[in-house]
This record gives sequence, structure tokens and C-alpha cells, in this order.
Amino acid sequence: MQNFESVHLIENPLITHKLSIMRMKTTPGKDFRSLLEEIAMLMTYEVAKTFQSREVEIETPIKSCRVNVLDEENFVIVPILRAGLGMSAGVLKMLPGASVGHIGLYRDEKTFQPVEYYSKMPPNLSEKFLLVTDPMLATGGSCAAALQMLKEKGAKKIVLMTLLAAPKGLETVAKAHPDVPIYTASIDDGLNEKAYIVPGLGDAGDRIFGTL
Ligand code: PRP
Ligand code: URA
Repeated sequence: MQNFESVHLIENPLITHKLSIMRMKTTPGKDFRSLLEEIAMLMTYEVAKTFQSREVEIETPIKSCRVNVLDEENFVIVPILRAGLGMSAGVLKMLPGASVGHIGLYRDEKTFQPVEYYSKMPPNLSEKFLLVTDPMLATGGSCAAALQMLKEKGAKKIVLMTLLAAPKGLETVAKAHPDVPIYTASIDDGLNEKAYIVPGLGDAGDRIFGTL
């Protein structure tokens, strides 16, 4: 795969361990959900290394001092429905003061093209830092379309958090949106004839919500 500056592979044995369990077809839905949430929390820790904090004066019980804080209300977590919800739960635990916007997209089973069915965003997107979540970056069509929609609504600062990415999906999104950093916990081998990630973990939305 070509190297793209915007692609960040998060390599961490704890994340890899949890992801390996998620890949197993015998892993029950309740474990799949909680592992995804935990990985999203751990990935947020990595992504947060790029966040800008602000210095404020506070009083500890001992004395006054200057400390660094984040303006949590400036963050918007944007799950791409449905599977993105499984990750946004973990991100929201790390940034409980963030707001949440939703984008509903599904991939047409024959054409693999994304179809939009829902969108609800908080106001003033242009001033916010958006954390878009979707565990699966396969052809990249869904994420590329979601990022385009968000930019058309005014979003300027966006990060994409995904669990598994196929090289094709990374290339599609990195070329269409070079300004959007992409964080992924794995770059898999490729796609099968149904455009599923190989080896992947199957259908993430179905495994999260028990609709297999
Ligand atoms: C999955 C996944 C991504 C998309 C990835 O959603 O969550 O949004 O497919 O495929 P792509 O990169 O080829 O576009 P799906 O359409 O299965 O909907 P769901 O989350 O509601 O199950
Ligand atoms: N969507 C999924 O849920 N899994 C894949 O492998 C590809 C798209």
C-alpha cells in the first residue's frame, strides 16, 4: 500500500489482543460490544495526544496553580450509524462533555455505494473538533461520503477513528480527504468479492446489534 501521511496505525499489544478476540467468530455479541467500547477508549487516548489544551488558574486544597484542561464541549463525536455507535460509546466515556452528531449511512448490498438516511448535527460545526467513528473502513465509500457531508455542513477540523481498515478504504479516504487524519487499529489484507474486509471480523453492525 502507498504511504499516506494522514494514516496513523495505532500499534498497542492491549488493543491488538482485544481486537483478536473480536475477530473470533465464536465471540458473543455482548463481549464484542464491550471490547469495541474498550478499544475505542484506548484509541481516544492515542488520538488525544494531538488535542490542544488550555491553561487555567485553579485552587487545589494546598495552593493555587496553573493547570491544563480541554474544552470538552468543543468536541463532537460523530458515529456513522449503525456500527459507529459501538465506538462512540467508548469515546464519549473519555470525553463526557462532548456533544454527539449522528450520520445514518448504509452500504447498498449490490453496488456497495453508501446511501444516506439520517443526519442530525449540533450547531456551530465550523468551530468544533469532530471525532468521526466507524469501526469498518472497507471500500472507504461510506466514510468518504460522511466526511464530505460534514464538510458541506461547515466542519473544518475532523479526525476519523476506525477499528479495521482495508488498504483500498484508506486510499479512498486519504485521497479524497487528505486533511483528515485517519486512526486505525489494524490495516488488514484486503477485501473479498462482497467488499468485506479480509480477514476482518465479519459484519460489525450485525455483531454489535445481534442482527446476524
Ligand atoms: C458498514 C460499516 C461502514 C461500511 C463500510 O456499515 O459500518 O459504515 O459498512 O463499508 P465501505 O467502506 O465499503 O463503505 P453497513 O453498511 O454494514 O451498515 P450498518 O453499520 O448499519 O450495519
Ligand atoms: N462492513 C462491515 O461491517 N464489515 C466489513 O468487512 C465491511 C463492511
